[in-house]
Amino acid sequence: MTGLFITLEGGDGSGKSTQARLLTEWLEGQGRNVLRTREPGGTDVGVEIREIVLHHRGDIAPRAEALLYAADRAHHIATKVRPALAAGDIVIQDRYLDSSVAYQGAGRVLGRDEVRDLSLWAAEGLLPDVTILLDLDETVARGRLDADNKRFDRLEAEKNEFHARVRAAFLDLAAAEPDRFLVVDATAAVDTIADAIRARVARLL
Ligand code: TYD
Repeated sequence: MTGLFITLEGGDGSGKSTQARLLTEWLEGQGRNVLRTREPGGTDVGVEIREIVLHHRGDIAPRAEALLYAADRAHHIATKVRPALAAGDIVIQDRYLDSSVAYQGAGRVLGRDEVRDLSLWAAEGLLPDVTILLDLDETVARGRLDADNKRFDRLEAEKNEFHARVRAAFLDLAAAEPDRFLVVDATAAVDTIADAIRARVARLL
């Protein structure tokens, strides 16, 4: 059996974790080994990096921020994701390089291509077999986050205009690589979304 690398992308509050869980349960029900993981923070080192990028008080220079996400990614892919794929497991990962392009690129300081190249260097060129984009209007996303009432991180605290740019960037990425991406409407019912994801993943099993 060959491994499969599945990533979930989308704005904060788009329901990635719920769908990652449902997909994991479905695949495990078929006897597959699944590694469910995330960036930033998929390793011990990554947890420390996550704390800096999400909760450091005060500014982080854009290049430093991009490098921190890339450092998290380099360690995570080398020590967890590649070994799992080599063992024939399915990796279901919350966020990957498309998040870097969409978020760090949306700051307008760094170009999307340079952010993508940095990530590819960090991950030694690893691209997902399929990327699920949970597309959600940023105003709806904000309403969901406010309803959650949890601690806001640095990115969640950004203005709607920033999140609108992130959303547009994700949609551009999906349009540029239609074979890799499945775009789903995140306002659809949880089960409807889960079915669409299963249908797409089933083609790769
Ligand atoms: P996430 O773990 O999805 O946050 P939460 O647990 O609050 O849903 O992602 C944390 C934040 O990190 C999210 O706002 C997007 C951001 N991010 C980047 O800016 N660049 C990246 O490369 C990655 C992986 C995440």
